[in-house]
Amino acid sequence: MKYAVAFSAIAALAARAAAVGVSGTPEGFASSATGGGSATAVYPSTTSELVSYLGDDEERVIVLTKTFDFTDSEGTTTTTGCAPWGTASNCQLAIDQDDWCENYEPDAPTSSVTYDNAGVLGITVNSNKSLIGEGTSGVIKGKGLRMVSGVSNIIIQNIAVTDINPKYVWGGDAITLDDADLVWIDHVTTARIGRQHYVLGTEADNRVSITNNYIDGESDYSATCDGHHYWNVYLDGSSDKVTFKGNYLYKTSGRAPKVQDNTYLHIVNNYWDNNSGHAFEIGSGGYVLAEGNYFSDVDTVLETDTFEGALFSSDSSSSACEDYIGRACVANVNGGDLTGTSTTALEAFNGDTLATAAAANTSPASTAGQGNL
Ligand SMILES: *[C@@H]1O[C@H](CO)[C@@H](O)[C@H](O)[C@H]1NC(C)=O
Ligand SMILES: *[C@@H]1O[C@H](CO)[C@@H](O)[C@H](O)[C@H]1NC(C)=O
Repeated sequence: MKYAVAFSAIAALAARAAAVGVSGTPEGFASSATGGGSATAVYPSTTSELVSYLGDDEERVIVLTKTFDFTDSEGTTTTTGCAPWGTASNCQLAIDQDDWCENYEPDAPTSSVTYDNAGVLGITVNSNKSLIGEGTSGVIKGKGLRMVSGVSNIIIQNIAVTDINPKYVWGGDAITLDDADLVWIDHVTTARIGRQHYVLGTEADNRVSITNNYIDGESDYSATCDGHHYWNVYLDGSSDKVTFKGNYLYKTSGRAPKVQDNTYLHIVNNYWDNNSGHAFEIGSGGYVLAEGNYFSDVDTVLETDTFEGALFSSDSSSSACEDYIGRACVANVNGGDLTGTSTTALEAFNGDTLATAAAANTSPASTAGQGNL
């Protein structure tokens, strides 16, 4: 009897330990991502411990229970940058990274810039990791996450990444992928970022699912000088299949998303709220299937003058999809110019594991971002 009691107590503990892990399973292109799998959870207590767990060669489940603040951890730099969008206090300034000001904004006035060095380059995340937050407590402040150089099988769920040199373009990105595979980012909140909230670079990122995230573009500094962030989701090539589902994009003004260079994007059931510029920018090599999305107070849903990609999207449901993806495509709501009947776009998804599509979600604030698992 005594043994039985002890045994059941141990079993209960074991069950609780096993319960620490990713919630749910990925949908869409990264559906086979397992991250750190069933590895015993670790709880970093310092920024250096977090950096070490994320970068080492072990399969890991890393649980964040507090804010990891990297601000000031690598010092600051004061130098000369530029003011391409004006010198009003709500405009972003640009760091002169790789002579960007001289090369791209030669007419912009120069301006003194003081930025936090830690923000410029994100934390390296190695393969086979799950990075998860407990409740709403897991926050990485002042530095982003970087998945590059051939890493694979990474899950990031239910954390917030915030406050990365918001005043400065080139001040740092929140989530970077460039030469990666099988990455699932779910229920993550990003806010007050200098450059991109999400950037998939020019190398192949293969299979990626970006789901149920809150992209909070509200900022005191912006390239459009109106409190709306311009640099949001940039999906570049060279062989990327991206599922972008259930995300909430608030107060953006551009690149939400920008898609190009052999990137296949299934963008479904997302909600845009109050975009003062454009949402979609689709360049050459962008293949986009957009369905079940909701656009609320979006100035320009698709930038038509730069459109060069292949698009299937409609404010009506379409049975034309059946031959390609085995079901009808779901209608967008208020899609404006985001209309296209390209079967090239549909063919791109033929035979793939696609996310399901529901009727457009109208209450993203209670389903997307950290704390809404
Ligand atoms: C990740 O896990 C896979 C499968 O177990 C293994 O082949 C690979 O070497 C691991 N990668 C790293 C960097 O640990
Ligand atoms: C959109 O954002 C602007 C600027 O932050 C604000 O003034 C405006 O009231 C918002 N519009 C709506 C419909 O919420």
